[in-house]
Amino acid sequence: MAIPQHTIDQILDRTDIVDLIGQRVKLKKTGRTYSGCCPFHQEKTPSFHVYRDKQYYHCFGCQANGNAIRFLMDIDSRNFVDVMKELSSQTGIELPQQQEQKKPSYQRNVAAKPQTPKPNTANSNTANSNTLPPNASLPDNTPAATVDFGDDPFEHYQDQAHDFQLDHADYYDSFAQVALENNALNNNNEGDFYTLLEAVAQFYQAQLPHSQTAQQYFKQRGLSAESIEFWRLGYAPNDWQHLEKAFPQDIEGLKSLGLIRSHDHGRDYDLLRDRVIFPIRDSRGRIVGFGGRALNDEIKPKYINSPDSEVFHKNQLLYGLYEGRKQKAARWLLVEGYMDVIALQQYGIAGAVATLGTASNADHIQTIFKQDHNLTIAFDGDAAGQKAARRTLEIALPQLVDGRQLQFFVLPAQHDPDSLIRKEGVEGFQRLWQQAPLLSEFIFSLLSQQYDINSPEGKSQVMAELQALIELLPKHGSYRYLLRQYFREKLGGNKKWQAQPKSDAALSFDIHTKIEDLATAILILHPYLYRHFEILRAYITSDTLLAQLLAVIDVVADHLPEDPELACYYILGAASPYQAQLVDIMQRSNMTALLQSPESIDKLALDYSRALQEKYIRLKLKKPSSLLESRNLRQQLNEISKQIGLKLLHLDP
Ligand code: UTP
Ligand code: MN
Repeated sequence: MAIPQHTIDQILDRTDIVDLIGQRVKLKKTGRTYSGCCPFHQEKTPSFHVYRDKQYYHCFGCQANGNAIRFLMDIDSRNFVDVMKELSSQTGIELPQQQEQKKPSYQRNVAAKPQTPKPNTANSNTANSNTLPPNASLPDNTPAATVDFGDDPFEHYQDQAHDFQLDHADYYDSFAQVALENNALNNNNEGDFYTLLEAVAQFYQAQLPHSQTAQQYFKQRGLSAESIEFWRLGYAPNDWQHLEKAFPQDIEGLKSLGLIRSHDHGRDYDLLRDRVIFPIRDSRGRIVGFGGRALNDEIKPKYINSPDSEVFHKNQLLYGLYEGRKQKAARWLLVEGYMDVIALQQYGIAGAVATLGTASNADHIQTIFKQDHNLTIAFDGDAAGQKAARRTLEIALPQLVDGRQLQFFVLPAQHDPDSLIRKEGVEGFQRLWQQAPLLSEFIFSLLSQQYDINSPEGKSQVMAELQALIELLPKHGSYRYLLRQYFREKLGGNKKWQAQPKSDAALSFDIHTKIEDLATAILILHPYLYRHFEILRAYITSDTLLAQLLAVIDVVADHLPEDPELACYYILGAASPYQAQLVDIMQRSNMTALLQSPESIDKLALDYSRALQEKYIRLKLKKPSSLLESRNLRQQLNEISKQIGLKLLHLDP
């Protein structure tokens, strides 16, 4: 059973690790954590710690660690699914049904033969005589799944000289054959939707060479032959029943997919006609649906997408995701339309993705964040774009756990990414992208446009709005704190303690200052970032200054004043035995000058913490106290190295 990440997250959200472990281990609150005797190894003094805000446990003795799921798996030697079932019934969050057993399929009509239409009347202006069956009675206002057809569907059909020329049986036969051969793999008459969709995509692709106007359209939009091939673009002919003719055995399937539509009083007809076709692939590269664009802008609607079906879920799909992954995209950009994705890719920018004619939702954002920690969202420069940006911001904020970054690329007026890259070229486009503000800057400019930040009233309104946005951020992240601090500094009125660099040391700072000192300086200036370093306590050698500082912060972390300046003095006070050393480090590091945005501070803290974890795990590994500890440490070293992105090359056995 595949359990989606968001279900796992939901279940973990509703499970409290302190309660859960508390049922098996006697826990006592000490400082910020709960501790007890480790259930994974024999001990008399408690070295097993449970962190409520991180929903995480760690044993300083044997280095066992993990979340609630890991705990249950290890303590009872159970498998993942088993544990998830128990947590699901405890939390009331349902797991997905076992899907493997019910594969979506449809009934094929293998007796049907591809229809032999009348002889080809190429270039005919009496289009309906060759393609529209004589008894067809199509409605004036056909109710459609996703779009309103608006005017009389015949009008466009009759007015347009269409150029569908290959209207002969052999031709359709060959496509029926593709579907048949592929489907023959599943014996009986059960049709597989993916096979059918693939055959339809090939059908649309094969129509393109036969339509001058469709080819002309792509050409006029600047698409290269490679792009057309890469994106498998095609053309749906101007025939009301082309799919019925090509796939007579699969009409049930095509109806379920919404590609053939039924009408009460008339004949079935194809959803997409006389449109260029954008096949849509899922994250595994399988065709799951189609978008069809009208060949000129007078025709409404401009795009028609196939409706949701058993295999096509628009809310979970992103156009370009499969292709971007295949091209190993380094940066990801969320844009609005198919043509934006394609144009960017053609210019060498992989990793642009678009929603399928729907607004972006939390699933979309989460999907992209799984590819990379950085995500840029492109918006039109107009009022609608601003509104969309605000809405997307609110959707994305809850997902901004530490380490993730959001950038807002507001496009110049009258441009979309497609037109911008054609005008500016790839370098110009990249430069503008590079300059796109990060979340903190973006929120600040959004709010400072709304209020007069030079007046005290305006400032307090900005802070109030900011607070509302901060409430949307994850509970246990550092952005909450960093954003507030950043705003206060921007709005002025908060002079933070500034270490005066000694003139002789200032320049040598980033080269010669030990990473421990840098971490120390960050912690003094931003004690809330302790959350990134908490885990380091499990490994760090206890007689170091940093270890002492971490122990001090652990005790006071829950009582830190909200005001950043006061918090800084509070820590210096609590750590008074080491004050001289700490102030010295502050002065040498000149840290304040280096730190600009909340994003960079947060990232720096995370990087330092990881580097230090790696260093001290390696040190510990030299003298492990037990086989168990050695195994656990090795595993943790592996994980941390993965996070750092280093290959684990020299790990002595
Ligand atoms: P836009 O109307 O912004 O157009 O639609 P675009 O992408 O710039 O299209 P071109 O460049 O004129 O071809 C953005 C996206 O919204 C969806 C489509 O997914 C499109 O790519 N859309 C738009 C629809 O689903 N239906 C429509 O009628 C229009
Ligand atoms: Mn466009």
